[in-house]
Amino acid sequence: SMRNELNVLVQTVSDPSSKKDFDIQMNSFYSLYTRYLAEKASKLQLDWNKIKSPEVIPYETLTATIDTPSLDKLAVLKVNGGLGTSMGKLDTSFVRDLTSSKGMTGAKSALEVKNDLTFLDLTVRQIQHLNTTRNVAVPLVLMTSFNTHEDTLRIIKKYEQQLRVITFNQSRYPRIMKDSLLPCPKTADDERSAWYPPGHGDLYDALVHSGVLDQLLSEGKEYLFVSNSDNLGAVVDERILQHMVDTQAEFLMEVTDKTKADIKGGTLIHYDGSLRLLEIAQVPSEYVDDFKSVRKFKIFNTNNLWINLKALKRIMDNGGMQLDIITNPKITERGEAVIQLETAAGAAVRHFKNAQGINVPRKRFLPVKSCSDLLLIKSDIYSVKHGQVIINPERMFTAPPVIKLSDHFRKIQQFQKRFKKIPNIMDLDHLTVTGDVYFGRDVTLRGTVIVLANEGQRIDIPDGCVLENRLVSGNLIQ
Ligand code: UTP
Repeated sequence: SMRNELNVLVQTVSDPSSKKDFDIQMNSFYSLYTRYLAEKASKLQLDWNKIKSPEVIPYETLTATIDTPSLDKLAVLKVNGGLGTSMGKLDTSFVRDLTSSKGMTGAKSALEVKNDLTFLDLTVRQIQHLNTTRNVAVPLVLMTSFNTHEDTLRIIKKYEQQLRVITFNQSRYPRIMKDSLLPCPKTADDERSAWYPPGHGDLYDALVHSGVLDQLLSEGKEYLFVSNSDNLGAVVDERILQHMVDTQAEFLMEVTDKTKADIKGGTLIHYDGSLRLLEIAQVPSEYVDDFKSVRKFKIFNTNNLWINLKALKRIMDNGGMQLDIITNPKITERGEAVIQLETAAGAAVRHFKNAQGINVPRKRFLPVKSCSDLLLIKSDIYSVKHGQVIINPERMFTAPPVIKLSDHFRKIQQFQKRFKKIPNIMDLDHLTVTGDVYFGRDVTLRGTVIVLANEGQRIDIPDGCVLENRLVSGNLIQ
C-alpha cells in the first residue's frame, strides 16, 4: 500500500535529521493522498447553482491615508518553486552567470526579463526602493523548491549586505503512478523526475515546518504580502495594507477584471456563506465553458494575497487547512502517466475570518507565462523604474499590443535565437507569427503585422526592416 511504500522510502534516509524532515513531508503527503482517495470515492462535486458572485471592494474606494508603522509589521513573500514548464524546460544554459553542473532545470525567476535583470533582481529593487523611501526594513521571503533553490540562492547572494532575504524550501512530494496509485520514487534520493513541488498552496505547511512563520512573528511581523515570482506588477501597495489594518481582515485576495484571454486563473466565488477560490480543475466538465466565460465570472485571482500572520498561526495550530486538491495529470519523459496532487494558496481564503476580495487595476497583474509575454515586457512598451515595470507614457491610453507567437517560439532558447534583438513595437497593435521565422536587428513593427511561414519554409526579417500593416508570407521581403 501507499503507507508501506512511504515507510520504505523513509527508511532509505540515513542521516537522522534529514530523516525526520523527510518523514514529516511524507506524512503531510499521505494525508493529502488519503483525502484524494476519499474525495474520489465520494464523487463530491460543487453544486453549480449554489455559486454566487462575491462582493468585492473596488480598489478606488480604499483610503489614501497611510500609516507608516504598519510597514514595520510587513514581510513580502514570493512563491518561487514552480518549474515554468509552459515556457519550455528552463535549463540554465540561457541564464547568464549560471553554470549548472547537473544540467538540472532552473528557476524561472532566474530568467532575465528586462534590462539584464531577472525577476528576482527586479523584486529586490522594488523592496529596496520601498525600504529607502519609507525608511523601513521590510524583509523579502522566498519560497523555493528542490527545482529552484540553488538558482535562487545564487542570485540573491549578491544582495546579502543590502537587504534581508529569508529563503525556505517547500515540500518535495512523490509523484504517483496513475495506474497503481503508488509512489514513483523507490528511494528518498531517487531521480528528480520522480518528485514534484505540490503547488503554491504548500506555502502554509512549508512556513510552519521551516520555522519561518514563528521567526516572522517573533520579529513582530503581522502581515505577509504573497505573490507569484513571475508577476512583475505585484509591488507592495500601502493602500491595500492600510485597508487590511483598518478593517482587520485576516486575508485579502486581489482579483482583477477578467478578459477573454484570461482562462487559466481561478476565480473568487461566494459559496455556502463564505468566499472560496474556484479553479478550473474543480469545475465539472459540463460547466467549463461557463467557467471560462467573462459574463458569468467577471473577475479572477491574481494570486496577490495579504495574510494576517497571527491568524495563520492560530489556524495552523488548530490542525491547519484542508485546501482543495487539484489533480494534475502528467506524462513523464519516459512516457509514464503520473498524477500530482497540488493545492493553491488562494484556496486558504475560506479558512480566515473577515476575508475579502479587492478588485485591483490590471497593472497589478503582469505575469510572464509565455514567450509572447516576454517579448512584450522586453520591448519598448515597458520601462523599469526602481524595479517596477511600467508602461511607457506614449502608450498609456492604448491597450498593449496583442502578440501571438507560434510554437516555434515556445521555448525560451528558441525565442532567444529567433530575435536577434527585440523589435521596436511602440506603435504595434497586433502581431501574429507562425512557422519558422527569424527577426534581425532594429526591426520596427507597426499596426497589424502578420508573418506566415509555411511548412518547410523559413522567413528572415532583415536588419532594419520596417513593417507597417503588412502580411508577410514568402521567403523574402525587400
Ligand atoms: P504557475 O501556476 O504559473 O506555475 O505558478 P509554474 O510552475 O511557475 O509554471 P508552469 O505552469 O509550469 O509553466 C505560479 C507561481 O507559483 C509558484 C511559481 O514559482 C510561480 O511563481 N509555484 C508553483 C510554487 O512556488 N510552487 C509550486 O509548487 C508551483
